[in-house]
Amino acid sequence: MSCVERLQITGGVRLTGSVRINGAKNAILPLLAGSLLSEKSVVLEGVPSLIDVKTMKEALESLGVRVNWRGDTMQIDPSGISSLEVPPTLARRMRASNLVMGPLLGRCGRFKVSYPGGCTIGSRPMDLHLKGFKAFGAVIEDNHGCIAAAAAGLQGADIHLDFPSVGATENIMMAATLAQGTTIIRNAAREPEIVELQNFLNKLGARIQGAGLDTIRIDGVKKLDQEISHRVIPDRIETGTFMVAAAITRGEVLINNVIPEHIEAVTAKLRETGVSIIEEDERVIVAVPSNWKAVDIRTMPFPGFPTDMQPQMMVFLSLAQGTSIITENIFENRFRHVGELRRMGAQIRLEGRSAVITGVPALTGTVVEATDLRAGAALVLGGLVAENTTSIEGVEHLDRGYENFESRLRMLGAQICREPI
Ligand code: UD1
Repeated sequence: MSCVERLQITGGVRLTGSVRINGAKNAILPLLAGSLLSEKSVVLEGVPSLIDVKTMKEALESLGVRVNWRGDTMQIDPSGISSLEVPPTLARRMRASNLVMGPLLGRCGRFKVSYPGGCTIGSRPMDLHLKGFKAFGAVIEDNHGCIAAAAAGLQGADIHLDFPSVGATENIMMAATLAQGTTIIRNAAREPEIVELQNFLNKLGARIQGAGLDTIRIDGVKKLDQEISHRVIPDRIETGTFMVAAAITRGEVLINNVIPEHIEAVTAKLRETGVSIIEEDERVIVAVPSNWKAVDIRTMPFPGFPTDMQPQMMVFLSLAQGTSIITENIFENRFRHVGELRRMGAQIRLEGRSAVITGVPALTGTVVEATDLRAGAALVLGGLVAENTTSIEGVEHLDRGYENFESRLRMLGAQICREPI
């Protein structure tokens, strides 16, 4: 039985040492969904132990897929798909459960899912996904919180996305893999997780090119039947979070298993504040010589500054010299951490989609609540440097996206522990 827990942090310790980054949450979820397209079993390595991964595993199992998860390796056998409907309880637990739609439509011609849940950071509609499916010739029923789609053979299509949505690009790519003819996705998302999905599907036998650019071409094939093993890319948001953890505590941390190009926008902004970052092949070293300067940030689709690093940077800039402005362009409701940071002494004013942050000399620990995954990470970062003790409730949000977060921070010297409430 799970019990309600909180994190207790005593701030003020400089983090030092090294940490290894785990496989990327936002890469593994589409790869798990993409495995539904395969006729043979698939082995995934570097699988992070996260609640969201467990939820996706359960979603696949509910469809009749056999999944064997040992350590960081997962074997997926999709040969016995027996259901095309994700139970509402699973769909509501996680937004990314919607990623089974594209593969089910591509492989089986049908699916039924409830409107998905996930972090409460905005309305997060599904219109772009569904527009793509319609372009393939699918008939969509969208009512009573449930989406059902059916198609008698998908026909490749030319699809222009109104916005480069990550999930819509992934869903459309996966459905197109087994469609007849060629699909072109224009204004596609360019995130590294899209390139990862292309590489994975191509290993299985798909014919996709262009991922990482704004136009992706998918030449449909009859089936995906290569037995493969694939190691997932490291998590760029976990990397960025540890970079800020090192910086905010004025520490010096070596971060291993990193693809520096994936986190360039964050590196550039941290450097602009005065943080020293040395990039090597698969690692970065972060150190902070003195105080840091205010900077302005606008979240944008990749390669712009990632929205998933916005809360962590906000707490960092709360302690900068000067006034910073962060403009959130991706999600309309992603400022729920602001109230909690203010309770810790941060000076932040909201003006529509922008947060105006006036640097203060110190934060003070208190009881705060994580309202979503990255907001929770920001509160932990604040707690690491705050005076006195910080108690963070809503820890279950953190477990969706960070594996053993507090024990890895403890290895770097942090005074942090988890306890039942
Ligand atoms: C993915 C990431 C999430 C990240 C986000 C943006 C995963 C599992 N999650 O989420 O961590 O914060 O990208 O980088 O990879 N939109 C529409 N209609 C749609 C789809 C999206 O209007 O049909 C809007 C959304 O409301 C949002 C914006 O597009 O404002 C971006 O969403 P999207 O890129 O789709 O994010 P996700 O794939 O859900």
